[in-house]
Amino acid sequence: MAFWTVFIGMICSCVTFFGEQKTVLVTGGAGFLGSHLCERLLRDGHTVICLDNLSSGSKDNIVAFLSHPQFFFLEEDVSAIKEFSMKVDEIYNLACPASPPFYQADPVHTLKTSVLGALFVLELAKKWDAKVLQASTSEVYGDPIEHPQKESYRGNVNPIGIRACYDEGKRAAEALFFDYQRMHGTKIKVARIFNTYGPRMRVDDGRVVTNFISQALKGEPITIYGDGSQTRSFCYVSDLIEGLVRLMDTADDITGPINIGNPREFTVLELAFLTIRYTGSSSSIVYCPLPGDDPCKRKPDISLARSVLKWEPFVDLEEGLVKTIQAMQPAQNGL
Ligand SMILES: NC(=O)c1ccc[n+]([C@@H]2O[C@H](COP(=O)([O-])OP(=O)(O)OC[C@H]3O[C@@H](n4cnc5c(N)ncnc54)[C@H](O)[C@@H]3O)[C@@H](O)[C@H]2O)c1
Repeated sequence: MAFWTVFIGMICSCVTFFGEQKTVLVTGGAGFLGSHLCERLLRDGHTVICLDNLSSGSKDNIVAFLSHPQFFFLEEDVSAIKEFSMKVDEIYNLACPASPPFYQADPVHTLKTSVLGALFVLELAKKWDAKVLQASTSEVYGDPIEHPQKESYRGNVNPIGIRACYDEGKRAAEALFFDYQRMHGTKIKVARIFNTYGPRMRVDDGRVVTNFISQALKGEPITIYGDGSQTRSFCYVSDLIEGLVRLMDTADDITGPINIGNPREFTVLELAFLTIRYTGSSSSIVYCPLPGDDPCKRKPDISLARSVLKWEPFVDLEEGLVKTIQAMQPAQNGL
């Protein structure tokens, strides 16, 4: 770590001397969203430190940047990191498995990742007076009674269910962010991300979009949990990343929480039919029992993002699905 500290410090000094570029830490940077964020930040000319334990992410997602002179990869666990002395200007905290099969595989570690990871990034932000953005989630609303969900809605989460390690971990992280802001004046930003999909999601990710595409490409029956009438709103990855970057760029008094997602609502059954159409598959549909605490509906109210960030998504589901299918096709054929 000492070598990296000195080396990255030298690079950052040179970069700062020649321009206004920032040094940005992205935890979970080798994951689906994190890798797209690293790519965007490099494109914007920043120095990017990607910290990831590769538990649900992969080096394949960042292989294209590993030789970039302003990209640094640290294989570390945010819940157990011992030393990190590099100066940073901004931190995006994305480290946490987001897909139920991954976050439920070791629920205790998932909770530790959210809580101890938040403490790690908040201490770092406090030390360097850096801005810090938390990737929170629509899961903080649980199985919502209010629809669509506004940021003021306090949620309907089962604190002892099988999703609690994720939902309550993210809620605890939000609480820590606001406590640091009140106690220390830490420059926080909290984004509540709704279902986002796109290239670089794992084929075995276990989330609904990749499950359906994967099954359709193999010609297997598409598995719908429940009767398929539950709704979701799907945001394409480029729209989401734009929203996160805009939130980070806001003035210090803008903290969020702020919903970032696509408000166009689809039933899971509609998603299945669209997937079959765009893959050209002959898959049938099979119905299985709904897993515990699965939310019945999800749709963000994005009025705040529209007014504060001047942001709204513009990639529709049909276009995003086609791009995601194209990206998954070679991996699928290789199976
Ligand atoms: N994609 C979505 O629809 C969505 C929705 C809401 C919130 N989010 C949040 O956005 C973030 C990124 O989600 P994603 O979809 O890219 O998931 P992902 O699983 O692809 O990425 C998470 C990354 O964090 C890393 N990670 C996990 N635990 C870690 C730990 N203890 N230390 C270091 N690294 C760790 C993983 O290896 C992975 O690279 C997550 O925090 C997630 O909760 C995502």
